[in-house]
Amino acid sequence: LRIFSGTANPSLAKEIACYLGMDLGKINIKRFADGEVYVQLQESVRGCDVFLVQPTCPPVNENLVELFVMIDACRRASARSITAVIPYFGYARADRKTQGRESIAAKLTANLITEAGANRVLVCDLHSGQSMGYFDIVVDHVYGQPVILEYLEGKQISRDIVVVSPDVGGVARARGFAKKLSDAPLAIVDKRRQGHNVAEVMNLIGDVKGKVAVLVDDMIDTAGTIANAAALLKDEGARAVYACCTHAVFSPPAIERLSSGLFEEVIVTNTIPPALKNDFPQLTVLSVA
Ligand code: R5P
Repeated sequence: LRIFSGTANPSLAKEIACYLGMDLGKINIKRFADGEVYVQLQESVRGCDVFLVQPTCPPVNENLVELFVMIDACRRASARSITAVIPYFGYARADRKTQGRESIAAKLTANLITEAGANRVLVCDLHSGQSMGYFDIVVDHVYGQPVILEYLEGKQISRDIVVVSPDVGGVARARGFAKKLSDAPLAIVDKRRQGHNVAEVMNLIGDVKGKVAVLVDDMIDTAGTIANAAALLKDEGARAVYACCTHAVFSPPAIERLSSGLFEEVIVTNTIPPALKNDFPQLTVLSVA
């Protein structure tokens, strides 16, 4: 078994290798002058089961192509099996056509990963579980929830918790979280989007008055969704608001929104490298290694 890291999140790859009591495999990854990706394995993988750790986080296209080239290098070096470990799967939100003449980039991405030569994929908190079906190879789908739940339970924040989904699409995820959090009650924010990365909060279904609200989502990108939801929860009388999201994409102006005083704490994981996140006092990063 060999584990190699791409350049997207070497610290997570190192932690995973360390957990397994192994060293990371040696690999040379660089860019040519024109930006093309070059990969050379620095050790034999002939007959090995190879795991490539590479979240396709921002810069998404760069990291994605790097993953393709890494897979191709392993295939051409006669690896027995190649597992693409993709803790954050870029393009996951492009999982269906919402208007005519759009692409389904999540499916295209799945095709390209398979075509490059991966035999198996490991992903964490896919935006929609159904996207596993885009792959004709085995997909292991793991979750950040257990580490977040363990952390929250350790904090013993309150008995009066309500778990909140910041949009209707995330209800199943939030319901599962609530169930594991001592069967906490559930509330739902009815969000209507006006455009890409522009979120508008409309209504709250459920009661948060005087309670500690725990918002649960798969990702924070620009933080529009979570910040609008938090503002609504505060308006509706929530005592404190926590945000629990696996993927901290944090595109601008996420940091400003998250550190504006709406949140008691913003709890994320390291599927995307912490280096990308400008730290702020309310931020906690947990490891999924
Ligand atoms: C949407 O369906 C997702 O689950 C997230 O809520 C959304 O993509 C987060 O994006 P942003 O932080 O830009 O609102």
